[in-house]
Amino acid sequence: MRKNIVAGNWKMNKTLQEGIELAKEVNALVAGASLKCDIVLGTPYVHIVDVVKSVDGSKIGVAAQNCADKVSGAYTGEVSASMIKSTGANYVILGHSERRAYYGETNAILKEKTDLALANGLTPIFCIGEVLDEREAGKHFDVVKSQIQEALFHLSAQDFGKIVLAYEPVWAIGTGKTASPEQAQEIHAYIRKTLADKYGDSVANDTSILYGGSCNAGNAKELFANPDVDGGLIGGASLKAADFFAIISAF
Ligand code: 13P
Repeated sequence: MRKNIVAGNWKMNKTLQEGIELAKEVNALVAGASLKCDIVLGTPYVHIVDVVKSVDGSKIGVAAQNCADKVSGAYTGEVSASMIKSTGANYVILGHSERRAYYGETNAILKEKTDLALANGLTPIFCIGEVLDEREAGKHFDVVKSQIQEALFHLSAQDFGKIVLAYEPVWAIGTGKTASPEQAQEIHAYIRKTLADKYGDSVANDTSILYGGSCNAGNAKELFANPDVDGGLIGGASLKAADFFAIISAF
């Protein structure tokens, strides 16, 4: 179902104690607020259990930032989708550009991860987006389309309905350079059209498509005002409760 969502991606930041503190601060800010969006905290694996316990689960969901592409067994250092589900987390961020760029995650691997996430009742927040060269060459539409086609278009319409997409132009991540509201709307509309061509208007119109990349309290309102932008995936600005809450309040 299409919802407004503001999701934080803490990336590799915060000790356990700092993470619990941040989660509690966000929880306190959210407690008295009338919310117009769902909220998700994407924490490192080791924080998940405590963050789940520190927040009101009816208002704040918790996401892992990755999961294994295997079910279980001799894969030292990996964490499976079923393990994540067993912690009380209900989302998993998949296909972040940092995982694609630094850890060799391909669309084929992400297809496996998506299937395992769905099989274990986790909602994937599936990231797509182009690098600067691709944008400058006008290839951004084709890039996001092939990312979606190769990793997700094997899904039934019913399963695709469980996916949240996050468009994150790589040139905007952590750079302070945000896509303009027009750029965001243009590509979000294209993504929705791509979904409509494959699954029909109803699935396309029910899919939440978040924007990520230097989204902050100053630009969130303008970005979220676009008809095809259903919220944000927030990195740096999710690391301080007040900043994150200001973005939540942009709805
Ligand atoms: P920043 O908000 O720090 O640019 O990061 C965006 C991001 O990568 C969220 O997943």
